[in-house]
Amino acid sequence: MINLNITAAAEEHIVPAAQYGHFAEHLGRCIYDGFWAEEGCTKRSPEGYRTDVLEAMQKLHIPVLRWPGGCFADDYHWRDGIGAPQQRKRRLNATWGWVAENNRFGTHEFFRLCALLGCDAYLAANMGSGTVQEMAEWIEYVTSDFDTDVVRERRANGRESAWKLPYLGIGNEVWGGGGFMTADHYSDLYRNWQHFARNFNDMDRPMMKIACGPNAGDYHWTERIMARVDAGMMQGLSLHYYTVPTGNWDHKGDAVEFTEEEYLQTIRSALFMEELITRHSEIMDKYDPEKKVALIVDEWGTWYDVTEGTPEAFLYQQNTMRDAVVAACTLHIFHRHTDRVKMANLAQTVNVLQALILTEGDRMVCTPTYHVFDLFQPHKDALLLDLAGEVPVVDGLPAVSVIATKKNDSVCVSMCNPTLTDHAVTLDIGTVAAAVQSAQILTGDCHACNTFDAPEAVVPVAFTDYSVAEGKLTVSLPACSVAVLILQ
Ligand code: AHR
Repeated sequence: MINLNITAAAEEHIVPAAQYGHFAEHLGRCIYDGFWAEEGCTKRSPEGYRTDVLEAMQKLHIPVLRWPGGCFADDYHWRDGIGAPQQRKRRLNATWGWVAENNRFGTHEFFRLCALLGCDAYLAANMGSGTVQEMAEWIEYVTSDFDTDVVRERRANGRESAWKLPYLGIGNEVWGGGGFMTADHYSDLYRNWQHFARNFNDMDRPMMKIACGPNAGDYHWTERIMARVDAGMMQGLSLHYYTVPTGNWDHKGDAVEFTEEEYLQTIRSALFMEELITRHSEIMDKYDPEKKVALIVDEWGTWYDVTEGTPEAFLYQQNTMRDAVVAACTLHIFHRHTDRVKMANLAQTVNVLQALILTEGDRMVCTPTYHVFDLFQPHKDALLLDLAGEVPVVDGLPAVSVIATKKNDSVCVSMCNPTLTDHAVTLDIGTVAAAVQSAQILTGDCHACNTFDAPEAVVPVAFTDYSVAEGKLTVSLPACSVAVLILQ
């Protein structure tokens, strides 16, 4: 039996809703055939969006969406994607499969999508093949209401007033495909670029400028950027980390067919996020003890070998209970680091990598990962409660991962059993709640997934395997499961 104690928070830590952020790139079928529907699709709205995807995403109330890349951002010229659709430039998407990009989905379509989803916009500027002027004019086009040529152009294209732009990324993976820069070279460039990233519309909520941060455990990168970029010039530093089961990028492992050891290795690799955040935060603390610069994990998730029969560069993969466990444990890690991690963006929403949604023709499924994001919604903007107690390690994994938050007098407890054995957990809830109001669980064999023929094979169901007595909640958590209990 594992014994834990939940108590009122000693310090005020609110889980930033933006930790539940997402990422949509012009990659494979994320935008086209994902958010956007081609002519002839029965799911196409009059404006062009895929209605089934939109409806499913609206239910998640996502806080923020990052666009247009990723690597694609470094080849993206925003003027290609404005104006009359038929006249937009056709360009090669050289990063992702040498396919023609018709730019049918551009700036106006993205901001309209954010409005439909009710989320904030996070633009990634093109530092790879673009210029400072191009970035500056994009921000002006988006955020200004002054009577200038750029703004007149936006108005002529049908948008009268400026949009809000709360987040801007300056440089994507500049240590790799974004320019193969050294940290010192990039930090000099960043100082210059950020100066011209003028938001004309941020009186009530200043735009966060996010610098390109490290690739996984590149601590030297964090050290140099923090040392060389003055406080006030950046409000965020990004971190990219993908879970690759085998650790070998040439043979990452299959999304559905994997051994028990590969399963365990995947979760161990996902949990490495804890060490990454801790160590990068320690470096940031040295230069920024007041924690003014946020760590923004703007790409994370599982990355497997691409599904056989689909284009190599489209990064399409199935999603199983294993991914649900990765999602739950990773979100828990972010919550434990709310003091530094202010936003995170799962890669990538629809049809790419650890997707929430998969589409095929006119059909769509919500993945197990989708259901974790849905179940965890009460944690957004909630007060993090303190949790004490020893958790045993089984097969190199903590037997259980637990987070408790409080909002409007109700306590949300999410529990994940990442191991392949069942565990019983007793939570002392006496000081924060008296009874369970509702409980749901997502569980199944670690290989279980939703397919187009069986879209509801893995969905949350009512959870009853718990009891409450004398201020203690006892829960039997099956192997490979994610449970959420609402207490009052
Ligand atoms: O998410 C897929 C790719 O992974 C992104 O384009 C890039 O930033 C990262 O390497």
